[in-house]
Amino acid sequence: MTRPGSIFTAMAIIAATGAAGVATAQELSYSQTERGRYLATASDCIGCHTDVEGGGVPFAGGRGLETPFGIIYSANLTPDLETGLGKWTREEFYRALNEGVNRHGQHLYPAMPYPYFTLMPRDDVDAIYDYLQTLEPVHAEAPEHELPFPLSIRQSVAGWKMLYFEDKQFVADPDQSAEWNRGRYLVDGPAHCGACHTGKTMFGADDEDEYLRGGALENWFAPNIRGGENGGIAHWEATDIVEFLRDGRSRHTAPMQRMGEVVYFSTQHLHDDDLDAIATYLKSLQDPAREASDRPDEARVETGAAIYFDNCAACHAADGTGVSHIFASLKDSNKLASEDLSTVIRIILGGARAEPTEAAPAMIAMPPFAWKLTDGQIADVLTYLRQAGDVKAGPVSASTVADMRAYLQDQ
Ligand code: HEC
Ligand code: HEC
Ligand code: HEC
Repeated sequence: MTRPGSIFTAMAIIAATGAAGVATAQELSYSQTERGRYLATASDCIGCHTDVEGGGVPFAGGRGLETPFGIIYSANLTPDLETGLGKWTREEFYRALNEGVNRHGQHLYPAMPYPYFTLMPRDDVDAIYDYLQTLEPVHAEAPEHELPFPLSIRQSVAGWKMLYFEDKQFVADPDQSAEWNRGRYLVDGPAHCGACHTGKTMFGADDEDEYLRGGALENWFAPNIRGGENGGIAHWEATDIVEFLRDGRSRHTAPMQRMGEVVYFSTQHLHDDDLDAIATYLKSLQDPAREASDRPDEARVETGAAIYFDNCAACHAADGTGVSHIFASLKDSNKLASEDLSTVIRIILGGARAEPTEAAPAMIAMPPFAWKLTDGQIADVLTYLRQAGDVKAGPVSASTVADMRAYLQDQ
């Protein structure tokens, strides 16, 4: 992803000022707007409500979000009277986050993650409102959504909401610790991790059986982040999760692309005790044991190994264990062992960049291989890596790689 430097720097400044005011856990002693700023950060309002690629002003909206149904543009959250939230009352704002309706009572598309924000109590939402009202008003009209009829009519969302949206409050589980409950609140509410990491039904609603077991978005794959036994990140310690979310590095891998943005705008600014809570909660989620997959063809594995040694081993090491905190381990890579290889194939075709953060500002990148390796060669190297890894995952076909190459060429 290419991001213009100027907007990126502007947002870094905003993010940094945000972090400065919220360094300790004494949330209650902060002014309402500081609390709102912290909650807005935890919810990553800025990530979606800024036209990141187009160099837009933070919170002024206009970012196009690619959904399976069409492109939906985010709204202007600055207090501009004409195009932003200038005329919105607290009540109207609460209804937007809690019920998913705009100030005219029309339904919002669930590309705005109100199915998660609905868990937030009124005083948290009020604090966010108070913070947003302190922003400099910016006059910016969001483009019209690019949706086919009848989805282009807001009323079409009514049926979806009746089936899939529940206006619920967070209820703590009394059998679990306060830390676990805080973690679950953050994951399911403000931080809306499931918006990307939970598999979706064909109607774009969370599939409960796929809760945090991996989901597709904008042709990326957000992997299984369950940390208990057999979970996608069972081999991560709680401290690895905290490091990944706070520093943008860990001994396993670093956040990239959309997850890079989440870390950049949101999680790197969270209090350590909130990150500990998220990790504690994720570590409690188990999965059933995986089924054994087909053994790949030996000739393909050998060809794949040769391609690996020529092109990849210099960084990821001969045995695939990588270099801690610098080059991801491929031996125990959760993404590489996943059924959906979109993220992995995109990384190999287009290259990758570990997100620079305040804690780890160095740029670490992987070069693109689209020009160098054919679809068949990439499929072979993946087939080799998947059977050489800790999880024995099945072979990959050249057509899977070809589909992604065609998608990227159309971009
Ligand atoms: C995953 C992306 C995403 C995140 C995160 C997100 N929003 Fe949105 N938001 C959208 C989109 C897209 C729309 C436009 C929806 C529509 O037009 O129906 C929207 C619409 C809104 C609206 C309605 C504005 C209007 O003029 O109708 C409000 C209010 C809003 N968001 C507030 C927030 C706040 C506050 C946060 C953080 C707590 C937030 N959003 C986080 C994507 C997001
Ligand atoms: C906007 C979508 C999005 C949201 C929201 C999101 N993620 Fe991610 N996440 C991704 C994608 C895409 C990847 C794969 C790319 C990467 O690893 O950087 C990923 C990767 C990860 C990984 C690395 C897993 C691995 O095995 O490599 C972890 C851990 C993670 N996310 C945790 C979280 C947590 C915790 C939250 C909520 C606080 C969250 N994510 C919210 C999209 C998202
Ligand atoms: C110049 C060094 C370099 C080379 C060469 C390289 N990579 Fe990478 N690779 C990286 C970096 C940097 C990342 C991103 C994040 C990290 O390492 O923590 C990465 C990430 C990955 C990931 C994501 C793993 C995960 O779990 O997050 C895969 C898969 C991958 N590389 C495969 C390959 C393959 C296959 C090749 C050879 C065709 C290759 N890489 C060549 C540096 C490199």
